[in-house]
Amino acid sequence: MATSSAPGKVFLLGEHAVVYGEPALLAAIERRARVTVEERSDGGLRVDSEDLTLDGFTIEYGEDAATDPNVDVPQNLLEAATGYVDEAVAQARDAADAPNAGFEVTIESEIPLGAGIGSSAAVVAAAIDAATRELGVELDREEIADRAYRVEHAVQDGQASRADTFTSTMGGVVRVEGDGGHSIPAPELPLVIGYDGGAGDTGKLVADVRSLRERYGFAADTVETIGDVVDEGERALDDGDVETLGELMNADHGLLSALGVSSRSLDAMVWAARDAGAMGAKLTGAGGGGCIVALDESDESQTALEYTPGCEEAFRAELAEEGVRRK
Ligand code: MEV
Repeated sequence: MATSSAPGKVFLLGEHAVVYGEPALLAAIERRARVTVEERSDGGLRVDSEDLTLDGFTIEYGEDAATDPNVDVPQNLLEAATGYVDEAVAQARDAADAPNAGFEVTIESEIPLGAGIGSSAAVVAAAIDAATRELGVELDREEIADRAYRVEHAVQDGQASRADTFTSTMGGVVRVEGDGGHSIPAPELPLVIGYDGGAGDTGKLVADVRSLRERYGFAADTVETIGDVVDEGERALDDGDVETLGELMNADHGLLSALGVSSRSLDAMVWAARDAGAMGAKLTGAGGGGCIVALDESDESQTALEYTPGCEEAFRAELAEEGVRRK
């Protein structure tokens, strides 16, 4: 039996634009997905999940079709969750040259599903690490990140960047651009998250931005401008200037709104945090619903978010220095 965990993440700057080769800055956060894998001799696959912020579900994949899980969640989220596990298992079998290996997989996750803080990437990175170790193979982080990316790419119909999977695998603060990424030094970041209890449809949101960008010059320019904001943000991190990073996060949220990916509840949470004195606040991830991230050393933003209609949960997020790891 092997257990691995990997952290969730927030985009400090650069979501959506990163899909078109612009840079992005992300921070891994101490909310982890933990995956336990045990090899089984019959070649079958069974997935058990206690949370994923959905009711516990169990799916058995035998020789015949999978039985329908009896859970009360949107079908698209459920299909996505099972798709990620299927593809992660396929990557592990490939990496260990064990095409017929069967597994018992148990997932526990503190990261809400589809909320923009990297639940799928964390589950996938942890699953690949645990399943390959269970088969006696140790992959380095670069290979885990690459294989995890291939999983997201397959499940999200080719509409995924390397941002989420790279951050979850490496931990810390990272810059991702195109096929590459690296860790960057950063000052302490007082991250506060607001969560509206919902989830955006990443595939659709990415496709909508793609279409907008093809139809309008302003949208193509906006994507490029987000890249410029990210470069400014990296300079601010380098200078230890958290205040300027906050200002740039505010600008980035405006640009993402122009691309149509914010929502009423995300805007309400962003403004609640700003009104409470946050240095900056923006949506994180694909948008449409889910989470915002704010920078605030005081407790004011978190308190304000707790009282904001539409905000289901507000919490402080510590930086996860370690990416994927045993346990
Ligand atoms: C999703 O967490 C972030 C997007 O930029 C898509 C991606 O990078 O794969 C919207």
